[in-house]
Amino acid sequence: MKYTTLPNTDLKVSRIAFGAWAIVGGFNWGPQDEKDSIEALQAAYEAGINFFDTAEAYGNGASENLINKALSDVKDKIVVATKLKPEDFAYQSVKKACEARLKALQTDSLDLLQLHWPNHDIPLEETISALEALKSEGKIRAFGVSNFGVQDLKECLSYSDQVASNQLPYNLLWRAIEFEILPLCIEKNVPVLCYSPLMQGLLTGKFASPEQVPDDRARTRHFSKERAQTRHQEFGKEQETFAAIEAIRRIAEKANLPMGSLSLAWLLAQPGVGSVIVGGRNGEQVRRNVEAMEVQLPDTIVSELNQATDHLKQVLGANADLWQSDSRYR
Ligand SMILES: NC(=O)c1ccc[n+]([C@@H]2O[C@H](COP(=O)([O-])OP(=O)(O)OC[C@H]3O[C@@H](n4cnc5c(N)ncnc54)[C@H](OP(=O)(O)O)[C@@H]3O)[C@@H](O)[C@H]2O)c1
Repeated sequence: MKYTTLPNTDLKVSRIAFGAWAIVGGFNWGPQDEKDSIEALQAAYEAGINFFDTAEAYGNGASENLINKALSDVKDKIVVATKLKPEDFAYQSVKKACEARLKALQTDSLDLLQLHWPNHDIPLEETISALEALKSEGKIRAFGVSNFGVQDLKECLSYSDQVASNQLPYNLLWRAIEFEILPLCIEKNVPVLCYSPLMQGLLTGKFASPEQVPDDRARTRHFSKERAQTRHQEFGKEQETFAAIEAIRRIAEKANLPMGSLSLAWLLAQPGVGSVIVGGRNGEQVRRNVEAMEVQLPDTIVSELNQATDHLKQVLGANADLWQSDSRYR
């Protein structure tokens, strides 16, 4: 495993992080056995992952509970990143919500507290000043943002020079941040923590056609608005998405690598990427995902992958919101 230190912090985190959303099952993910979830978390730690991403929103605290349960023995050796819900961004609410997360994670100090999505109805300056106060009080070691576009990130940086990270959707089938957000993150030295790096399983090659993708995972703007659980108004880019998947599959075959490892290795090779947050539902998936760390991708393969997914990138455009046409990004 390789590690990186987040700027303005003493947090040394693994370049592959464990995403603890899918292990709660239910919404978006379907049935999940707790035994598998615990095994996935412990397999991650054993493989050198020390960075765990969670949120109150993942199963209403269930994800944080699983981390407590699986990793209580090694708590002082891991970095847990949790998130605040946008409705809690007023000054006193930030303080109160932080207390609730401290309790949920059974700790005196949160490692990394992130703003889950922007809230344009509450002044960001107020939210950031609450986070800075929590940091000076020792209640949190660091804070970061998530789903912050160019305007939001610039505003945030105008209030604070302590921002540790911006968590964003980034993978071979979702390159929207490359248009504007990623260049700004690089310029301002705000590392990107990539979420949905396997595009919720699409990049493992497990789905051969759009019809095979369950409705709850076909909520993203790759899929037509006709899919049952979408909340966007677009016709879908199924043809372009599956053409890109097929092209990636051919490149993976030629390189003799699993598609998932190749996709994660491509992300790890991108400038500006601090850590790649992968969701694994059992020990075996986690162990397979960690293998990506060993892959040294030649520049020629990186270029081939860029080319193979460029058309999809262009047709999906610069809106980084995976789920809404009416983008929550600014
Ligand atoms: N900040 C935000 O707004 C935000 C939004 C989304 C996610 N996140 C974070 O990012 C993390 C990761 O994103 P994600 O869970 O959406 O997507 P992901 O990591 O791209 O995909 C995870 C899913 O892919 C499948 N998978 C993983 N490894 C596999 C393997 N080796 N072989 C086959 N299938 C495999 C599993 O599902 P199946 O086995 O069921 O197919 C797994 O649940 C989340 O856990 C969360 O921490 C943050």
